[in-house]
Amino acid sequence: MAEKELLRISNLVASFSINGGYYAAVDGVSLQINENEVFAIVGESGCGKSALALSILNLHNKANTKIEGSIYFKGRDILSLGLEELNKIRGRDIGMIFQDPLTALNPLMIIGAQIEESLFYHTGMNIGERKKRSLELLTQVGIQSPELTYHQFPHELSGGMRQRAMIAIALSCKPSLVIADEPTTALDVTIQAQILDLLRRLQKEMKSGIILITHDLGVVAEMADRVAVMYAGQIVETADVNEIFSNPLHPYTKSLFASMPDAYRNARKDQRLPVIEGMVPSLLNMERRGCRFAPRIPWISDAAHEAVPQYHEVKPGHLVLCSCYKNFYLKSIPRRVSSSTLR
Ligand SMILES: Nc1ncnc2c1ncn2[C@@H]1O[C@H](COP(=O)(O)OP(=O)(O)OP(=O)(O)O)[C@@H](O)[C@H]1O
Ligand SMILES: [Mg+2]
Repeated sequence: MAEKELLRISNLVASFSINGGYYAAVDGVSLQINENEVFAIVGESGCGKSALALSILNLHNKANTKIEGSIYFKGRDILSLGLEELNKIRGRDIGMIFQDPLTALNPLMIIGAQIEESLFYHTGMNIGERKKRSLELLTQVGIQSPELTYHQFPHELSGGMRQRAMIAIALSCKPSLVIADEPTTALDVTIQAQILDLLRRLQKEMKSGIILITHDLGVVAEMADRVAVMYAGQIVETADVNEIFSNPLHPYTKSLFASMPDAYRNARKDQRLPVIEGMVPSLLNMERRGCRFAPRIPWISDAAHEAVPQYHEVKPGHLVLCSCYKNFYLKSIPRRVSSSTLR
């Protein structure tokens, strides 16, 4: 049976006001997520992953951000909702694990009160039930002394503990959609495995959909059903997880995968990993007329790039932006080590 659609984003453009002009950090993104599905988003630092995640809950500062396009969650147009309606969805239906726990947590409230706040607004639990659930959540995210952490302020916790506390808040109301922006970056592998397990259990129990933003392709391979690769504000390729790992087509996807150890089968231990030169352009310097990746593959002739890149559906569900993938060979990547743009 076909899964139910949770989220549909169409032609989303999120632009920030800089020096009097608006510059798009997310530029024409469309995607759809079904319940019970893990949708991974990968891409270099600065390509717009967090800007996209924050747009889904309309969390950008309105004073300097312009959002265009549409975002439908369970059939409701998120961008047209007022603050009151939006706040009902935030935390209850959509849980957000922010990339930076320190700015996401309230420095003046103990952790327990922050978890309970969400339970207070979104559930009918009484005070005793809220405390019990908070301690249970802290245990589930791998916190050793939940009672102690419950009474601590964010600054009293290590980075990894703060991240886990934030995950506890995000999952507290068993949301049907979780947006996890690098949820395990600051965590050691054991805790990382626990957190991923927790997300999987939530997915099973609630049929939740998960947007998983990560730099870790191992996590993608393990968790994701579908994958989108972002570059310079656009999704340049999207496909099922098995398909994208076995048949990456866009030159950016190929070079991204090739720059990861293990993912590049031919990289011998004594060889340096191939790294695509250059980096994601800043918003002000982004080439917006043709293929944005073209400046990083100068050995492909200009004629090979489409003037206005289009999505090509090479197989059902496998879309590639720009047809230059036909002219790109992995061996063309200059073998030069630079500081990897992947963290
Ligand atoms: N509030 C803002 N005002 C102006 N520019 C911004 C703002 N937020 C993000 N940007 C810019 O938008 C682009 C995308 O940033 P974003 O944080 O979405 O990248 P990212 O893909 O999440 O990177 P990372 O992997 O490092 O988290 C960057 O060029 C960034 O400098
Ligand atoms: Mg980010």
